[in-house]
Amino acid sequence: MRGRFITLEGGEGAGKSSNRDWVATRLREAGKTVLVTREPGGTPLAESIRNVLLAPSDEKMADDTELLLVFAARAQHLADKIRPALERGDWVLSDRFVDATWAYQGAGRGLNRDAIARLEQLVVRDTRPDMTLLFDVPVEVGMARAGKRAALDRIEQKDSAFFERIRQCYLERAGNEPDRFRVLDASCDLEQVRTRLQPLLEEMLTWK
Ligand code: TMP
Repeated sequence: MRGRFITLEGGEGAGKSSNRDWVATRLREAGKTVLVTREPGGTPLAESIRNVLLAPSDEKMADDTELLLVFAARAQHLADKIRPALERGDWVLSDRFVDATWAYQGAGRGLNRDAIARLEQLVVRDTRPDMTLLFDVPVEVGMARAGKRAALDRIEQKDSAFFERIRQCYLERAGNEPDRFRVLDASCDLEQVRTRLQPLLEEMLTWK
């Protein structure tokens, strides 16, 4: 038995987290056991790594350090939470997964693609999402929303060109894998996004 693995992706301020909780509620109403989680993080150890990754610091974090920490957190999350849940037959809804590494570290920071691919192979192996919801929002709109919410984390403290590369990378990945990705225009209000999520939920619930 294998459960279902859904990931949510998007730039800053795309509304992933509130939509994630809404999707989880709908799936639970349909009788599914749903584990809601996030990356980086999702287990106590992975959340500690998240704090190291996101805390602004006087010491500049080397790019390779950032990449290894992201994958270290993911390895723990997969071993301790995602794989056991899928093996029980549960549904896993994760706010970000490996597409975020391709977008942020790959396109955003310009880190070595071979290194990302090798770490992905080592850490993720065949635990791939069944569906990825991409909440797409123009960079200025997302940044304005994220800026209103809280102090920016270490990774968010970048210019808009960085976020534009991230957005384009996500859209490109979605274009390359149309069976897995569903792109949602997240610039409209929450109600409209939910109206668009409804048929996707119905699609998920037809999965055997
Ligand atoms: P969040 O704000 O959606 O919780 O994500 C936390 C930050 O971590 C966000 O700035 C994106 C970043 N991130 C990466 O840079 N690489 C990754 O692989 C993941 C999962 C997140």
